[in-house]
Amino acid sequence: MVTVESIIAMKREKKKIVCLTAYDYTMAKILDKAGIDIILVGDSAANVFAGEKTTLPITMEEMLYHTKVVYRAVTNSLVIADMPFLSFQTSVSDAVLNAGRFLKTGACGVKLEGGTPIIDTVKRLVALGIPVMGHLGLTPQSIHKFGGYTLQGKTRDAQQSMVKDAELLESAGCFSIVLEKIPASLAKKITDTVSIPTIGIGAGPHCDGQILVLHDILGLFDAFTPKYVKQYAAIGTQIRQAVETYRDEVRKGQYPDKNHSFD
Ligand code: KIV
Repeated sequence: MVTVESIIAMKREKKKIVCLTAYDYTMAKILDKAGIDIILVGDSAANVFAGEKTTLPITMEEMLYHTKVVYRAVTNSLVIADMPFLSFQTSVSDAVLNAGRFLKTGACGVKLEGGTPIIDTVKRLVALGIPVMGHLGLTPQSIHKFGGYTLQGKTRDAQQSMVKDAELLESAGCFSIVLEKIPASLAKKITDTVSIPTIGIGAGPHCDGQILVLHDILGLFDAFTPKYVKQYAAIGTQIRQAVETYRDEVRKGQYPDKNHSFD
């Protein structure tokens, strides 16, 4: 079974960490069987599962439901739950309560977006035995600050403060840090600086691991496709073809035939 400790060890052993998102039982079961190291119950569920424009609207109750059904499917992967907007920013005690609810539901840890402003929260969670994954760079809960899903860490100042944030997250006790949509050279600098694993998404090849949104790599979500997404299948097209064939067969009276009926 993958544990927080085994994830940290993978950096020392120079083994790449493979992560994907999942929000439901069926997909989580496939990912678990495929040997994915970390399944993130991402708040990207707001976009790809619920059709929201940003991740901001998703609630604690909705994220708990996704976490519960993912956890039910998993026997090997490490399940990490994404703390939604306003579930940890309001106070350290809110963060403890909400992170604790995710652990009660089956998650082995939580992911929080941000650097310096959340360091005390991270310290408290870790002190209470709640593993924390950090998240720097393009943190989608701050979309209105960034004004769009743009590359982060472009200026020298921004790069220096991101390296500092990564160091702070490490010393606060994070077991890994997601780096989203930043230059590959900056991701390399952070990866070389901290001793905990970095997990990249749109952050180039030098990170200790990679994460992508499952619906993106399967070709199930086409509202927007960032440059870093590689599509490994076109399941959306296949589903549409299957559904259209079913539609036509029902309309023509070809389904159900004798083989799919009882005498
Ligand atoms: O919500 C999410 O899916 C994420 C990742 C893709 C890192 O935060």
